[in-house]
Amino acid sequence: MTLNTVAVVGAGTMGSSIALAVAMSELPVVLKDVDSKAVDNGIERIERMIASLVRKGLSEEVAKKRRALIKTTTDVKDIAHASIAIEVVPEKLPIKEAVLSELDAHLNPDAIIATNTSSLPISQLARFTKRPHKVVGLHFFNPAHLMKLVEVIPGLDTDEATVVAVMDFARHLGKLPVRVEECASFLVNRLLGRYMNESLFCLQEGLGQVEDIDRAVCDYVMPVGPFTLRDMNGLDIGLAVARFNFQEYGDRFAVPDILETMVAKNWLGQKSGRGFYIYDPETKKKAGINPDLAAVFKAGNSNGTIQAQRLFLPMINEAFLALQERICKPEDLDPALKAGLGMRKGPLELAADMGLDNCLGQLEELFAKHGERFRPAPLLKRHVFAGHKKVI
Ligand SMILES: NC(=O)c1ccc[n+]([C@@H]2O[C@H](COP(=O)([O-])OP(=O)(O)OC[C@H]3O[C@@H](n4cnc5c(N)ncnc54)[C@H](O)[C@@H]3O)[C@@H](O)[C@H]2O)c1
Repeated sequence: MTLNTVAVVGAGTMGSSIALAVAMSELPVVLKDVDSKAVDNGIERIERMIASLVRKGLSEEVAKKRRALIKTTTDVKDIAHASIAIEVVPEKLPIKEAVLSELDAHLNPDAIIATNTSSLPISQLARFTKRPHKVVGLHFFNPAHLMKLVEVIPGLDTDEATVVAVMDFARHLGKLPVRVEECASFLVNRLLGRYMNESLFCLQEGLGQVEDIDRAVCDYVMPVGPFTLRDMNGLDIGLAVARFNFQEYGDRFAVPDILETMVAKNWLGQKSGRGFYIYDPETKKKAGINPDLAAVFKAGNSNGTIQAQRLFLPMINEAFLALQERICKPEDLDPALKAGLGMRKGPLELAADMGLDNCLGQLEELFAKHGERFRPAPLLKRHVFAGHKKVI
């Protein structure tokens, strides 16, 4: 694919930072939204992100040149010449359908249509166009201009040339593209979901307090604890994701009660001023633990001290299930999790550190006690039977 102009359709949270990522790679980009207000909001966001890059050392001159590469429009005809259009509109099937079919009607027949969807099946979205072989998932992480990982997800009808072209495009942006086969939540968020749920089960079972658990996983491998992260992302969003994963994968993704209870109480995290922590209404900074939390689940007063490894066992097990399904290449799995979540070690490395046989032993014990959440992945068992000490 010869890259001329890139079109980004949707100038919201993700679209604006994807447009900036494209401009930072010195490619011209046209950012489209429904009306001038939405476009202006996107541009304001981009200018704030550029100002932050300048504060961190980007020269004013380069910043100006990159900003000049971003044009805006509300008219699809202005992006008709783009070689790739990235759809970044809200996660609602009818909106995606309208946008994808409009792009298909106006773009050159050989142009690629990429979608940044986080959960909708690429194979289904591709059917909204007459070029399903040219439609591909291109899943950026927030904020897209800073995060290295991009998951590249072919649908059933995507051709290999399209996959190769978008992998090259992502590399041009300075990203780490990882090919991921189509599955619910794709690779990184699927594995993240198991760990996020487990943090809540640990809390419910009294294995640790909010701050203990957040601190323990940060000391272990994470840049931020699961409860701080939930408060940042919004518990309502977290609940929707947890329900979706449960619907797609079944009992091992059971939704912890505490999440339902907290959302029903409107404890949504930073945005409502109260989640696992409470937030100062002025500064929005953490101002301690939510004092009412202990009342919503019985084990809340326990003095248990968490073993960080416990939270990662379901994630490690899910990694083996994903490898068994050939969702990604084994050598891509840890780099994807590290780049997508900022983990210092990936799940396969953690499993090797713990000992694969030890992981299996712990999973079997927990499976006997808690059921489906811990049913050991057959591929993990096979590695243990084979006497392997690590996967790659
Ligand atoms: N927010 C995240 O952290 C994140 C991360 C990865 C992927 N995603 C995915 O990215 C997509 C966008 O998410 P977001 O958080 O940026 O949403 P958002 O609501 O912030 O932005 C969506 C934008 O699309 C615009 N839009 C709506 N209809 C349009 C149309 N017909 N033509 C052009 N623009 C249109 C809206 O006006 C809005 O500006 C979703 O599919 C989401 O699942 C989001």
